[in-house]
Amino acid sequence: MNRPQAIVTGASRGIGRAIALEFAALGFDVAFTYRSSEAQAREMEKELETKGARARAYGVDMADAAALQATMERIAADFPAVEVLVNNAGISIDGLALRFKTEDFDLLMDTNVRAGFIASQAVMRPMMKARKGSIVFISSVIGLMGNGGQAPYSTTKSALFGMTKSLARELGSRNIRVNAVAPGYIKTDMTESLPQASKEGILSGIPLGYLGEPEDIARVVAFLASPASRYITGQILSVNGGLYM
Ligand SMILES: NC(=O)c1ccc[n+]([C@@H]2O[C@H](COP(=O)([O-])OP(=O)(O)OC[C@H]3O[C@@H](n4cnc5c(N)ncnc54)[C@H](OP(=O)(O)O)[C@@H]3O)[C@@H](O)[C@H]2O)c1
Repeated sequence: MNRPQAIVTGASRGIGRAIALEFAALGFDVAFTYRSSEAQAREMEKELETKGARARAYGVDMADAAALQATMERIAADFPAVEVLVNNAGISIDGLALRFKTEDFDLLMDTNVRAGFIASQAVMRPMMKARKGSIVFISSVIGLMGNGGQAPYSTTKSALFGMTKSLARELGSRNIRVNAVAPGYIKTDMTESLPQASKEGILSGIPLGYLGEPEDIARVVAFLASPASRYITGQILSVNGGLYM
């Protein structure tokens, strides 16, 4: 039997890496993107292969629309029967609104919002033909609750809710489901760089009392990609230890 195929964007590190490993463990072949962590991406390819998956890494700056479109075409040639797309790749650039640079705002929008749209466009046709598909956007608790010093990042993560719901409406009749996961604070390079005082402040607001692990997100994404969630579409699933309810 043919193995199912999944695309995970930004899987050289962090949450995307855990998601790709989870799919490999579930029997998927995995295509994934990264921007610059070449060595980690090659290592990751090997790790996925040891789990029995056919795996391939694609280096691309997803903020570059033309480069991303070309890469999605290469992925389609290599993985023609994709049934899961996880739009995970993202960046954070923090700063007070008063001094925030316009070019940083654009970079956040191009990476966190437009890239997910372009990647989704690329998988729609094969998913429509197969009458089967699951697209998952990785948003953030910050898109739900906002945060001082993160207005542009929060804006990009909220934008994904509109995209998720609109695509869910547009594609539902073709049996393509579209959902978003809103992680709270998860232990990755992105949160590693937070000052100790901020980390302590965050912890005090989390009822469960600890930061999440990338695998906590990966398991929920796997659920949203599986038939167990067949009647769930257009939803935002919070995975945040209770930080925001
Ligand atoms: N960590 C958290 O607490 C948290 C909370 C809520 C939401 N999130 C969201 O979860 C997602 C993953 O976060 P993370 O913490 O795992 O981040 P991370 O550790 O910084 O990893 C980001 C991944 O995305 C890739 N990437 C970033 N920009 C890219 C670009 N322009 N083109 C292609 N690939 C790109 C990176 O590739 P390289 O390795 O090559 O740079 C890397 O694989 C993001 O969308 C983030 O906003 C994270």
